Amino acid sequence: MATKSVIRNVNQHVGETVTIGSWLNNKRSSGKIQFLQLRDGTGYIQGVVLKNEVSEDVWNKAKSLTQESSAYVTGVIREEPRSPSGYEMTVTDIEIIQITENYPITPKEHGIDFLMDHRHLWLRSSKQRAILVIRAEIIRAIQQFFDTNGFTLVDPPILTPTAAEGTTNLFHTKYFEEDAYLTQSGQLYMEAAAMALGRVYSFGPTFRAEKSKTRRHLIEFWMIEPEMAFVDHEENLRIQEQFVSHVVQSVLKNCRQELETIGRDISKLENIKAPFPRITYDEAIEFLHFQGFDIPWGEDFGAPHETAIAEKYDKPVFITHYPTGIKSFYMKPDPNRPEVVLCADLIAPEGYGEIIGGSQRIDDPELLEERFKEHNLPVEAYQWYLDIRKYGTVPHSGFGLGLERTVAWICGLDHVRETIPFPRMLYRLYP
Ligand code: 4AD
Ligand code: MG
Repeated sequence: MATKSVIRNVNQHVGETVTIGSWLNNKRSSGKIQFLQLRDGTGYIQGVVLKNEVSEDVWNKAKSLTQESSAYVTGVIREEPRSPSGYEMTVTDIEIIQITENYPITPKEHGIDFLMDHRHLWLRSSKQRAILVIRAEIIRAIQQFFDTNGFTLVDPPILTPTAAEGTTNLFHTKYFEEDAYLTQSGQLYMEAAAMALGRVYSFGPTFRAEKSKTRRHLIEFWMIEPEMAFVDHEENLRIQEQFVSHVVQSVLKNCRQELETIGRDISKLENIKAPFPRITYDEAIEFLHFQGFDIPWGEDFGAPHETAIAEKYDKPVFITHYPTGIKSFYMKPDPNRPEVVLCADLIAPEGYGEIIGGSQRIDDPELLEERFKEHNLPVEAYQWYLDIRKYGTVPHSGFGLGLERTVAWICGLDHVRETIPFPRMLYRLYP
């Protein structure tokens, strides 16, 4: 019945009579004219109903439409310079599907708990819709970058027998008679895949049973994890900055309208181009002391530290060479200074925090086994992972980009809860 994607491609329909399967977003009327704000999922258009030019039946149908009522609306598309989209529809016919009563989300302000409880409906708002369109563009640009730079997409498992990123935040489940955990990161499997395929990347959900209730933490989030054989720490950073630049520039190119809808300051995104600044952990500590922070060498940075460091730059900044003691067991120590590792966190500007964590990996089987012991990890369960170093070990590196934090930054949102259709957070599993 309805033409597909009419509103998105409205410029191709000027002068035509079209039928749009739509929801009523809003309505205004002034005596002999009704203005219907219609939404078809691809965009918005104003339908104009003129009392003198439609049947009484069509006029009354228009009058009966309430917010979020659904209908097939037929009319002629016209150019209209005064409308925000540049187009309008002169309505000739309306076929009502459902008159909605008491739609809970009205144009007035609602509290965040109310909106989160109605997330399934909140998604229909223009801002939430724009965020999801940008998220999809970010995903497309991510895949495009890797698919056109010699990487193969590989899917690691979701149910795993062991931890990849520490044992304190694992989601436990039974796997018949055995214990299993929801994956925290596909990295270890991607290392195995890199030895088979050279350059690989994964794109999947990851889970952290973290009891943190911050604006940067989700319990379920999506991670992109590239892993590359014969790539060292330096090259790892170069690939990351190229990658992040590509994603930001793609959004700027393809999502102008959506960025405008959410009110994003585009000038802040325009100069996100490689290379990105780099500082070492040592330099960061020195800077923080200078800023009056009381943080000893060897302690991990929290959100206020990251924000203070990021404020110095208008691009993402790499913090490299963290102390070995606060980083993951698999990171390769700096050969010149084994108390630090060849790693980097990429901190987004404007206070959005860490969007990437990555490192060169330990390639020496003996050192890796030592690390398992230091971290109290059961070596037997990781035999397969040790095999990677036993049979043709090579220098290799990789990283993980958190999708939702990246969406929050690019969209300029103050909480990750709006970056994913149905967020899983501490105390929130509904809807
Ligand atoms: O720094 P993380 O923990 O690194 C890893 O998992 C590595 N195994 C990645 C790798 O080298 N293959 O997580 C990577 C990124 C973080 O920088 C952050 O952007 C995101 O994942 N992230 C979260 N995003 C939302 N909610 C959480 N609870 C997150 N934890 C990490
Ligand atoms: Mg990290």
